[in-house]
Amino acid sequence: MGNPLRRIFKTEEKTEGSTFMAVFVGLFAACGGLLFGYDTGLINGVLAMPYVLKHFPQDHPGINGGEGYFTSSEHSLIVSILSVGTFVGAMLAPFLNDTIGRRLTLIFSCAVVFNIGVILQVASHSVPLLIAGRVIAGLGVGLLSSTVPLYQSEASPKWIRGAVVSCYQFAITIGLLLASCVNQGTKDLNSSASYRVPFAIQFVFSIFLSLGMFFLPETPRFYISKSKNDDAMNSLSRLRKLPVNHPALVDELGEIVANYEVELSQGSSSWADCFSFSNSQFKRLMTGIFIQAFQQLTGINFIFYFGTTFFKNSGIKNGFTITLITNIVNVICTIPGILLVDVIGRRKLLISGAIGMSTSELLIAIIGATTNSDAANKCMIAFTCTFIAFFASTWGTGAWVVTGEIFPLRTRAKSIAMSTASNWLWNFAIAFATPYLVDDAPGSARLKSNVFFIWGGCNFLCILFAWALVYETKGLSLEDVDDLYEKIPRAWKSKHYVPVEHKFSRAIAGDQVYDETKADFQNIEDTKSGALLEHRSASISDSV
Ligand code: BGC
Repeated sequence: MGNPLRRIFKTEEKTEGSTFMAVFVGLFAACGGLLFGYDTGLINGVLAMPYVLKHFPQDHPGINGGEGYFTSSEHSLIVSILSVGTFVGAMLAPFLNDTIGRRLTLIFSCAVVFNIGVILQVASHSVPLLIAGRVIAGLGVGLLSSTVPLYQSEASPKWIRGAVVSCYQFAITIGLLLASCVNQGTKDLNSSASYRVPFAIQFVFSIFLSLGMFFLPETPRFYISKSKNDDAMNSLSRLRKLPVNHPALVDELGEIVANYEVELSQGSSSWADCFSFSNSQFKRLMTGIFIQAFQQLTGINFIFYFGTTFFKNSGIKNGFTITLITNIVNVICTIPGILLVDVIGRRKLLISGAIGMSTSELLIAIIGATTNSDAANKCMIAFTCTFIAFFASTWGTGAWVVTGEIFPLRTRAKSIAMSTASNWLWNFAIAFATPYLVDDAPGSARLKSNVFFIWGGCNFLCILFAWALVYETKGLSLEDVDDLYEKIPRAWKSKHYVPVEHKFSRAIAGDQVYDETKADFQNIEDTKSGALLEHRSASISDSV
């Protein structure tokens, strides 16, 4: 597996040990994306099912076996309540991640929290229980959504980290696609199976993920943050498939320990520390929060949440076909994103993607505002597909990759949580506000296709944001990323950064490390971290 992958990713570096296990672990955790995508993609279809419309609406219920309908407020509450749960879940994640660990958090969030939410949704036969189920399932998805990229980034080898984290996005897109297929398969059943089957299928994903995680290792970086160096060594040895105390492991772990100690010397790891200006922590936090906000402001969920209605108004009758096409484009175009993120790097990927998205959306808006013909409608649909293709191959994957890797270990879980919560907050705000912007109804701004001027404008801001704030982290270890932020003051200069820590730690540890026993490991790490501290202080005073 190593050689072809290394050729694609053009890695020069020879890392010892197997890459297979670390990649497998990261890919397995990506299955959390299935839950994320499936759960968010399910509800719109469920609320349009004839059986659900006969039995669920409360204000306008079905009479004599006929269909009722959901009022806007019922509809918007059932759809958006998930985001309340996901937001809270994402913010709660660090309390678990930093105490019981990344792996147990993943197991707890699917096996306990998410499954309780699914049980309530399957059992529901009216709106209140359905809403309770959505909130609790949302808590589980929120916990997962900020833990998966954290776990993947900490477990993956650096040269393929971007691709591994991108697979989380790939799983999200597959989850969205599966939801639309399952809905289509059960929607016409004239029994509660029409909605219970799609809800119950979520058990398969959550049980699969939690059982699998049971057998996978915790990340070495979590153990280091708990001063459990032996456990960290065992975990790294499982990930790299090398014997404990192998020189390459000692070196890699030494790097992590030394870096963590440097971080600790700079302050504690409280929530307030996430906002500190030291070591660019505040800049990194703003990068994480805004990259997730901008990912939502691209307008992607306008297509996934409201696309069916929008396309119908453009003269296309079969809403399912359109939903299916947009979902398939989303899945397929994520694949180039997975390959490109570690080849062309984060900055080029995000900047070129935002240019592509902005152009596609402005073209949709201009065509919609100036012409009204069949040909014009078809062009709008074609540009919608190019927009999704650009999103899927760039910002879809890129936002999660950047969020997973830019934070220092001591504040990583909390900072990733705040960034992910920003994704859910904007997800909610856009889902909630869009009908008021677009619909042809009293009280709405009636923007219709002009709303694409807003999304196109936001994507223009995405270009500036990525240029000004996203650092190039391709091929760097998470510890190199710390050094990068310390040494390079401007994101657009980050591609010139040359990592020195590896050479440095090897120079400090020297060949003697290879002969050291486990008992001596700590001493060597003390030496390294002490020297690294001096090295860092020197470089800080140089830059001052
Ligand atoms: C976004 C979701 C979106 C999905 C589409 C994710 O990265 O966070 O909001 O629905 O991509 O593929």
